[in-house]
Amino acid sequence: MKKKSFPKITITKLTAREILDSRGNPTIEVTAFSGKFLAIASVPSGASTGVHEAHELRDGDKKRFLGQGVKKAVHNVESVIFPAIKNISIFDQESIDTTMLEIDGTPTKSKLGANAILGVSLATARLASVVAGIPLYRYLANYYNYKPKALPTVLFNVLNGGKHADSGLDIQEFFLIPKKGDFLNRLNMVHKVIANLKTDLTKRRLSIAVGDEGGVAPRLKSNQAALRILAKAIENSGYKLGRDVGIGMDAAASEFFNTDREVYELRADNKHYKPASIYKMYQRWIRDYKLEVIEDGCAEDDFLGWQQLTKHVGKQTLLVGDDLFVTNPERIQLGLVAGIANATLIKPNQIGTLTETLQAIKLSQKHNYKVVISHRSGETVDDFISDLAVAVNADFMKAGSLSRGERLAKYNRLLKINDELNHH
Ligand code: PGA
Ligand code: ZN
Repeated sequence: MKKKSFPKITITKLTAREILDSRGNPTIEVTAFSGKFLAIASVPSGASTGVHEAHELRDGDKKRFLGQGVKKAVHNVESVIFPAIKNISIFDQESIDTTMLEIDGTPTKSKLGANAILGVSLATARLASVVAGIPLYRYLANYYNYKPKALPTVLFNVLNGGKHADSGLDIQEFFLIPKKGDFLNRLNMVHKVIANLKTDLTKRRLSIAVGDEGGVAPRLKSNQAALRILAKAIENSGYKLGRDVGIGMDAAASEFFNTDREVYELRADNKHYKPASIYKMYQRWIRDYKLEVIEDGCAEDDFLGWQQLTKHVGKQTLLVGDDLFVTNPERIQLGLVAGIANATLIKPNQIGTLTETLQAIKLSQKHNYKVVISHRSGETVDDFISDLAVAVNADFMKAGSLSRGERLAKYNRLLKINDELNHH
């Protein structure tokens, strides 16, 4: 039988430029054109990056942005990638992505740069949605064979520590998880708890200035004090801890694991834990503060610690692998075999193409691991991840607190998508 032929629509021009991210560091923005249509995508950047992440190409020229420039990545998009993909249909995302992987040829995308590759990958998908005349989340959902229905549950990082602030806390992120009503109502709930949190901090003469992801970053005496102050703000807002608003955290434990001594060093608490026993610390927090989400509770290569943690608290707690899995289907497969964690964090720039990102999500869902779509600490106003989260039926999403425009861009996009879903 003769296959029906669709008109082939290709990228007619591809440009890239350096822009600045939310920390003021250079990052790449890509514009893909097809005739009179165009679409723009930009790439975020992490601070607590996992060692297994794809390579972010930086110029290393100390005279420009302290070596952080991305002019080489810009060059690669315009002069290396464009000639290789210009004859491929924009609707064939997989061919575009695999062609880039082939011309890169390295395991970590170090030749072209994962930032260059991802910029093209995301701009292509967005251009395809523009040409098709449908919103991005619908285009992606159709590509993923899913009919979008609902928004993910959002984890709001309202208190920042670790590498995202100078608060002195070892734990990197503390989440509020509002659970009642629609997304707008949940924003209203978080808004109220943040207001009470700030009132409390101000009374105690603690700072309410914010960290990289928009949450407050007070100098508290211990990690536990952060949990206590959040639980109090929830109750002061008239909500019941756990039932109305839950608490979660991204420990980002790779950052406080001493690999030489094989011990977790929690400076703010003046405590040390061995891989085989760190789960006990979390067990206490689960008991005392109803902690229900723990991301990177153990370090990226501490499989023993992860096994103990999963065995002891994995039934009642969402255990999310971020640095552990780095959105990489191969790393997720290792985790599945080892039986560790029960959720994967998904950050497209950890792996570098949309195709591999979707594979990581599909693999997780196939094995009943929950999916958490995530921003990075260094962000732009690009709201691609909001569309992605809805398109793949992600269980959760995190994009920071209710401050800083690059964080709100994601939440405001979710509001718009929510309206559309309700009126269709
Ligand atoms: P990063 O932090 O973007 O600085 O890596 C986010 C996270 O660890 O989830
Ligand atoms: Zn993380």
